[in-house]
Formats: sequence, structure tokens, C-alpha cells
Amino acid sequence: MSALRAALAAVPSGFDAPTADRAAVDAAAGPGAATYGELAEAAFLKLLRWLAPGPDDALYDLGSGTGLLVWLAALTTRVGRAVGIELSAFRHAAALAIRARLRRELGLGAIAAVELRNEDLRTTALGDATIVFAASTCFPDPLLAALARRLGGGAAPRLRTLISTRPLPQPWDRALPARGTLHVPATWAPRVRLYVHAGPRPR
Ligand SMILES: C[S@@+](CC[C@H](N)C(=O)[O-])C[C@H]1O[C@@H](n2cnc3c(N)ncnc32)[C@H](O)[C@@H]1O
Repeated sequence: MSALRAALAAVPSGFDAPTADRAAVDAAAGPGAATYGELAEAAFLKLLRWLAPGPDDALYDLGSGTGLLVWLAALTTRVGRAVGIELSAFRHAAALAIRARLRRELGLGAIAAVELRNEDLRTTALGDATIVFAASTCFPDPLLAALARRLGGGAAPRLRTLISTRPLPQPWDRALPARGTLHVPATWAPRVRLYVHAGPRPR
């Protein structure tokens, strides 16, 4: 974990994204989409312990910032794939810089599970996703609706767990059965509610 903390400290954070980069994300995904925040490291670790991803799992963070969740998943669990989808070119570049540092420090094997894509969560391929996380608190309504529509509509047929920091809009909150809530700390609030859903009901 010390190698990850050193790498995170050495590269720009997701909060450092310049105005032009934020404007590009907002222009593409809607006002507010570029807003940044992270769950606390301890919160992600707690979540990962509960999820217990294994070699058959593909965990996606939709709007992954600099990739804290995918790094922690790769370094502390047996997850098969940990995929970060980030629209901001700046934050994606920071995640790539973290990867380069971890590769130097720990070797490729330690982070082989991680894939980073500078893509839009509305169009990126999700076919193998079994676990999806989205820090969706500041997503504009149409973006959250598009995400719920994709997952509820079968874009991730292997999905077993979806975790969102905002409740899903109707009718997708019913298509993806609610499993309960968890409370964890984040950079923007000491107690953030996570909405946990199962994969889509068979149709
Ligand atoms: C609140 S941050 C979450 C960062 C990270 N998931 C975490 O919790 O540590 C949300 C991220 O979603 C990204 N984002 C917004 N719209 C997106 C889209 N349509 N596709 C991919 N990423 C998007 C933003 O640029 C931002 O980095």
C-alpha cells in the first residue's frame, strides 16, 4: 500500500483538473459531470472486503478519476479485472502516471488486472462487468439515467452488484433490485450513503 500512497502523492490529483478539462467533461456529459470527489481509502477497502471479488469478477469504476478503487482492488483482492472508465483526459493521464510508477515499484504482475480507458460511461463496453461502482453524486440526471438504463437494460449481463452514491431513477431502481445501503466516508462528506443493487432481473 505504501507504493500506491507514494504514487498517488507524486502525481496530480483528480481535484487538480484544469478548467478546460472540466469544461470538456461538462460539455460532453452535462453540467456538473466534471465535479470531483473520492471515497476515503478505508471506505473502498471496507467495500472491497464486503464484495470479495475473485478471479471471475470484472469490477468497473464508472467515472474512475485517478483510479483509487481499481488500484486498491488490484492490490488487495484476487479480482480478475479492475477497469477504470474516465472521461476526463487529465484524470485519465494521472491514472496512467500512477500505473507507470506502480509498474516500476511493484512490477507489472501486481497491477496486471487493471485496465484504464479514457472513455464515456454511456458508450464504453461493459459486457464482462460483474461489479460496477459509480460515485454518481454529482452526475447530472440524464447521465445517471443513461447509466441506469444501460445496466438495467442488459449492457452488463453478468452484473451481480451495482453500487451508486445516488439512488437510481425510476424505473431502473426496480429493474435492478435494491439490496440495501452502506454508509462510508468520502472527501465530500463524512458519511456518504451507498445504494447497493443486484444485477438485472431476468426478463
Ligand atoms: C466523483 S468523481 C469519482 C472518482 C472515483 N470514482 C472515486 O470515487 O474515487 C466522478 C468522476 O466521473 C467522471 N465522469 C463524469 N462523467 C463521465 C462520463 N460520462 N464517463 C466517464 N467518466 C465520467 C468525472 O470526470 C469524475 O472524475
